Parts: sequence; structure tokens; C-alpha cells
Amino acid sequence: MNNKILITGGSSGIGKGIAEHFYKQGWDVLITGRNLSKLDAVASEMPGIQTMVYHSSDESELVQIVDFIQDQWDGRLDILVNNGGHVAIGALDGLEADSLLEMYRAHLIGPSLLTSKCLEFLKRTKGQVLNVTSSHGIKAYPQTTAYASAKAGLNMLTRVWALELAPLGIRVNAIAPGPTNTGILKAAGFDDQTVKEIHAHEKGEIPLNRRGEVADVVENAIALIGGKTTWTTGVLLPTDGGMSIS
Ligand SMILES: NC(=O)c1ccc[n+]([C@@H]2O[C@H](COP(=O)([O-])OP(=O)(O)OC[C@H]3O[C@@H](n4cnc5c(N)ncnc54)[C@H](OP(=O)(O)O)[C@@H]3O)[C@@H](O)[C@H]2O)c1
Repeated sequence: MNNKILITGGSSGIGKGIAEHFYKQGWDVLITGRNLSKLDAVASEMPGIQTMVYHSSDESELVQIVDFIQDQWDGRLDILVNNGGHVAIGALDGLEADSLLEMYRAHLIGPSLLTSKCLEFLKRTKGQVLNVTSSHGIKAYPQTTAYASAKAGLNMLTRVWALELAPLGIRVNAIAPGPTNTGILKAAGFDDQTVKEIHAHEKGEIPLNRRGEVADVVENAIALIGGKTTWTTGVLLPTDGGMSIS
């Protein structure tokens, strides 16, 4: 029986990079995303990959994922990657509950519910959870109330779950990327010029003097979950060119 991995937000960027690695290793891979046509495009690049529409924390869509693993994967899951998410930038002045809720649904409520629902599957394999957090959950920047608090919360949940699930043999770790070249800023609605300005500004904050590539993050994700590390749990691995310690 093949090993099995579920990656939320696997239709682009970091999640897609992780999916590609495990797909090439012959794993059964299930990815989710919000946009069906993006999922279909990935499915045509990687024939046999499983795809499902899932808006983080939507409980009816969550049920479909759980049913799929139960029915098609014999209730077994080796790795759950809580990666799907988007960014919101905005001032404290004028903050509205909806923008907090949107970030908390994507980065806290969704991952918590999904991990909870997958526990019985992970128990069977003594599996792993990888949370994709952010350097914004470590180092403070203005205009990031909703996103930074959500990612900081996910950092803490990594440690809470690691302790809670250790007796079951399930390990839980996190990777905290710094500014990485994906479509995340465009998806957040920034125009090309603003994206360029943000990129230039972020580069100046990174001691290693370059933005990250998806491969940088995928390599470290694999270091945590790829099978060679078996005695590490509750760890947050910053992958940010030194940004979070600068
Ligand atoms: N890129 C960076 O600089 C950076 C830095 C630190 C942390 N991160 C984190 O890394 C993760 C992946 O981001 P990325 O840079 O790879 O971005 P990306 O290329 O935009 O990919 C994001 C993925 O997550 C899905 N997604 C977005 N919001 C979602 C939601 N509310 N519910 C369910 N799925 C959702 C997207 O699906 P659709 O496209 O269909 O919406 C897509 O598959 C995110 O959690 C992000 O916060 C990124």
C-alpha cells in the first residue's frame, strides 16, 4: 500500500511544490484548493493525483475530504500538510471583525478542524502533521494584525498538538517561510507595480539578501517530514534567509 499525503492549498506555490516531491516518490497525493480550474491544471500535470475543492474551515467540504480518506485510502493518512492560506494586510485603525475571521478561518480554524478530523487516520500510521506558518508569526511588522496573529497562533498550535499527540506516536512540526516567490501577493489583489515594491522592500529586510524560492521551502519541509527525521516534534523551522532574527 502506498504512503498517503494530504496537502491543503496544493494547487500552487509551496503546497504544489510539496505535492510534486511526494508525487514523484510514488505517494498517493490529495491536494485541495479553492479554484477548480487550478486544481484541474495540476491534475493534468500530475496524472493520478487526487484533487478536491476546499475553502478552509467549510465544514461540508471538510466532510468530503474525510469521507474520501475513509473510503478510498482505507482510513489511512501518513502526512497532513496544513498549508492552504492567503494573506491580508491592513491597519489596526478601521479593522473589522470579518478580516480577522477570514484569517482565523484560513490559518487557525480550518487547520484545527481538519487535523482533528484526520486524527483517527494519522493514529493508524503514527503519522505526521506539518503546519506552514510564516515569519510573520515570529517577527512583528505593522499592518499585519489579522495575518500575523493567525500565523503566531498556528505556531503555538504546533507545540500544543505535538505534546497532545506524542502519546499516539503522531509528530507535529511547522515550517515558517519568509517572503517566497509565489502568487500569494497577486492572489491578495495587489497589482504588479505594488507587488514589485513589496518584493523590493522585503528583500532589503532579508540578511541573505534574496527572496525565497518555492524549492527553498520545499527542501526544508522535506527535511522535517521526509522520513529521515523521526525524533523531532513541536519544532518550528524558520526558512527565511534570516529575516525573523534580523
Ligand atoms: N509566499 C510567501 O511569501 C509566504 C510566506 C510565509 C508563509 N506563506 C504561507 O504559505 C502557504 C502557501 O502560500 P503560497 O505562497 O504557496 O501561496 P499561493 O501560491 O497563493 O497558494 C496558496 C494555496 O492555498 C489555497 N488557499 C488560499 N486561501 C485559502 C483558503 N482560505 N482556504 C483554502 N485554501 C486556500 C490556494 O487555493 P486557490 O488558489 O484556489 O485559492 C492555493 O492552493 C500559506 O499558508 C501562506 O500564508 C507564504
